Formats: sequence, C-alpha cells, structure tokens
Amino acid sequence: TDAPLVLGIETSCDETGVGIVRGHTLLADAVASSVDEHARFGGVVPEVASRAHLEAMVPTIERACETAGVALTDLDGIAVTSGPGLAGALLVGVASAKALSIALGKPLYGVNHLAAHVAVDQLEHGPLPEPCLAMLVSGGHSSLLLVEDVTTGVDPLGATIDDAAGEAFDKVARLLGLPFPGGPHIDRAAASGNAVAIDFPRGLTSRRDLERHRFDFSFSGLKTAVARWVETQQRAGATIDVADVAASFQEAVCDVLTRKALDAAATHGVEDILIGGGVAANSRLRAMAVERAAAKGLRVRVPRPGLCTDNGAMVAALGAELMQRGRAPSALDLPADSSQP
Ligand code: KG4
Ligand code: ZN
Repeated sequence: TDAPLVLGIETSCDETGVGIVRGHTLLADAVASSVDEHARFGGVVPEVASRAHLEAMVPTIERACETAGVALTDLDGIAVTSGPGLAGALLVGVASAKALSIALGKPLYGVNHLAAHVAVDQLEHGPLPEPCLAMLVSGGHSSLLLVEDVTTGVDPLGATIDDAAGEAFDKVARLLGLPFPGGPHIDRAAASGNAVAIDFPRGLTSRRDLERHRFDFSFSGLKTAVARWVETQQRAGATIDVADVAASFQEAVCDVLTRKALDAAATHGVEDILIGGGVAANSRLRAMAVERAAAKGLRVRVPRPGLCTDNGAMVAALGAELMQRGRAPSALDLPADSSQP
C-alpha cells in the first residue's frame, strides 16, 4: 500500500504555496510570493495579499502538478491551512481547496499553520521525534510549542508578548537602511560584524520576568534599544557600523531564543528540538542552537531554509500524516479561522 499522495495549499500570509507529497517524500513545492508588491509599504498589506493569492492560485497548482508529474485525479487528499493568518488570504486557500475536494471527490484536511511548520521537517529528516519541543520563529509568530502528536495539535508553552522575532529583524533592518524583508540582509551583514560590539538587551530574562514569562519572548525593547543606539551615534556624528549593529542585534535575538528553547525542552523532558519558520533560516540561530543543545545532550532538527519559510509542502506533509494516522477529514463547511491558536 502506497503512502497517500496529498496536495497542500498555503495562503495564510503573502506566499501562495502549493506542495505535493507522497507520505514523507516531497514531489513538488511551488511558491508564488507577493513580497515584492508589499516591499514599498515595508510590510504585508492584507488586501494586496488576497488579490495576489487569487491570481496565483491556479497557475501555482498547475506548476506543482507539472513538477510532481501527477494529475489532479491521482491525488488521495487535499490539505489546506485553515488558520491562523490573514482572514482574506486564508479564505482564498480554503475556497480553492474545497473546490478541488468537491471536484475530485477526495477528502479535505484543514490544518493549523504552526503544526504544518512542525510537520514539514519529516520531508527532510524522516518521522518526527514525538514528543518534541518546537520553536517557531517567523514574521508572524514566535512560539515555543510542546508537540506530543503533531496530528492532534500543538501545545503552546509561550509566545512573544509584542513583536515576532522576524518582525524585529525586519524593523531593525529598516532602521539600518536594509531592504524588506530584512532577516536575510541582517544575517548577511552580521557575518562580517562583531557580535559583542554592542550589548543589546535580552528581553524577559530577568529573574522577575522569568517568574511570569519563563517561555515568552519580547523583542520590542530590543528594537527600541537599537533605534536609540543608532540615533545617539548619528547625533554624535559617528558613522554607523551596520555589520556590528546587525551582528550584536542578531546575537541578542538568538541568545534569548535558544536559551528559552533549551529551558523548555529540559523542563518538559524532551530530547529533540525542532526549529521552524522563516527566522529558522538564520545562520547564527542554527549554529548557536546546535552548539548549545549538543552541550546538554539534546538534538536539534532544522529543515533547510526553503522549507522553513511559508510553503505548500508543509501543509501537504501534515495532510499526509493525518491520512496515514487515520484522522477524520474536515467537513466541507471548514471555516477560514484567522484567530486559530
Ligand atoms: O515563515 P515566514 O516566511 O513567513 C511568516 O512570517 O509566517 O517568515 C518570514 C520572516 C521575515 O520576517 C524574514 O525577515 C525572516 O523570516 N527571515 C529571517 C531570515 N530569513 C528570513 N530572519 C533572520 N535571518 C534570516 N536568514
Ligand atoms: Zn509561517
């Protein structure tokens, strides 16, 4: 008996993603991004994203089928991100998935975006280690999750109380005059900078904060500290060493993220840490997490960068897992639920 052939659709933010998997094997991962259309606004504009999804949906489905060498009629199931995300953007994906499900007579699986970010790792490293601790860091979320069984949901241990990690990267990049989205640019600039040049604050790590926010994050104070530092330098007529600021800022973010992830893993007795979301592409975060985890006898799994950012393959991966574990499909009145946990 073959593993199920599943098509997954992701439209929660600005990427129209259509992926096709057979079980744990990735066959196609087509992504159309509207990121360039948002660049001049310095952030994602919901109405622009919805319209772009609508235009990209059919061509992206066709491209995925072509790459995978499958016809729509070959599919065993359709999976789609039902939330959380931008309401209008989600709606385009959910409506498209329902149309395919009805037209093909194949089951529909609505999946949680965060759980899909976790499930994608099995396309690269095989079956998920369950239970595991997942750290999802992107432009929209920064969460620590306990994953007992990825098909029944993920259990939030903590999250950011203000900006998401990726948002902090994007805002600091803007301060430094780097293009949007800023994460990759900071990563590159930091490579030639000194990470201990400036001692930026580590949010929610004081003894008092840890009492209430042990597994939560805060990045807005860090962003403000960078803004103040840049201002002070400019007022003094000094030139800003972009590489040093980038490296010191990045060090502060990665330090807090890995510290709290390791603490959460130790507290819940899990030996595997999985990192996902766009910021998981960060080279310093990967290196620091692997190094610190190894020192504690823990393992770290990070999918390759292309699978960390939003894509359809992650949705297909979770859909295939739901089918393989015999979970019930969604009803055809599946709502697009923007505020899903
Ligand atoms: O997962 P993603 O594609 O979309 C969501 O936000 O859900 O993540 C995008 C975020 C952006 O904020 C981007 O700046 C950040 O991931 N990012 C990075 C890197 N590559 C992407 N942040 C730090 N270092 C990177 N190499
Ligand atoms: Zn995401």
